[in-house]
Amino acid sequence: MPRVALVTGASRGIGLAVAKALAADGTAVCVTARGAAELDAAVGELGPDALACQGDVADPAHLDEAVARTVEEFGRLDILVNNAATNAPLGPLIDADPLAWRAAFTVNVEAPLRLTQAAWHAWMRDHGGAIVNICTEGTHGVGPGVGAYGASKTALLRLTRQLAAELAPSVRVNAVSPGLVRTEMARFVWDRDESAIAATFPLARIGEPEDVASAVRWLVSDESSWITGTDLVVDGGRRVRAAYRPA
Ligand SMILES: NC(=O)c1ccc[n+]([C@@H]2O[C@H](COP(=O)([O-])OP(=O)(O)OC[C@H]3O[C@@H](n4cnc5c(N)ncnc54)[C@H](OP(=O)(O)O)[C@@H]3O)[C@@H](O)[C@H]2O)c1
Repeated sequence: MPRVALVTGASRGIGLAVAKALAADGTAVCVTARGAAELDAAVGELGPDALACQGDVADPAHLDEAVARTVEEFGRLDILVNNAATNAPLGPLIDADPLAWRAAFTVNVEAPLRLTQAAWHAWMRDHGGAIVNICTEGTHGVGPGVGAYGASKTALLRLTRQLAAELAPSVRVNAVSPGLVRTEMARFVWDRDESAIAATFPLARIGEPEDVASAVRWLVSDESSWITGTDLVVDGGRRVRAAYRPA
């Protein structure tokens, strides 16, 4: 029986690469995003076993609908990848607008939790499954203007561990934490002077969406069946470089 996945924020970037990697394994995929045109184009690329569910993950009704439609259309839901996120710059945290702060947590933390709850009740509680939450390597450091993003992704990592314990043994819940990846979200970082930035990575390049997709594909496969509650950092060794001080 082919597996079925729901991937949020999959009209481009890492989410689309994840959806393509899963589809290549014969998995039927439901993909979500706000923009209808880009989402329809993504479904066209993914082939006949793909379904678009357009909407904003900040809307709880959309999340419930995405799970319900996936199960209705494909008859099951084995894999959930919580990928959609916002990194809207908020400036220094000390002056953060409470509404903007809350919006970051609604999209980056509450939506993955609600989707997990819906997937659990609709299918995974009785049949098992695998969930991956896309966090960020950035939770391990700090940076200007990304306080709400970083705090929300750190909360998502903690939520991942908690749910891994609560949903075991039937459902595995893991995180993947990318470093800098060539997508629209991070364009403002890598587009300035890519070769200089690439030189700061031990593996001498920035990441591609497919680098992250490979990690997700493995974490939702039976090859990783004894792994839950972990955080797989996919960052070209950047953290190693940060920690390394030549003698
Ligand atoms: N790129 C990096 O360097 C990097 C590093 C660390 C972590 N990450 C994480 O990787 C994940 C994917 O990011 P990306 O770099 O691939 O970003 P991206 O290229 O900008 O793609 C984001 C995707 O999510 C959708 N999306 C955004 N907000 C949404 C919302 N509120 N509701 C539904 N869909 C939404 C977008 O479509 P619409 O705009 O049409 O909704 C798009 O399909 C995120 O969780 C991000 O935090 C990225």
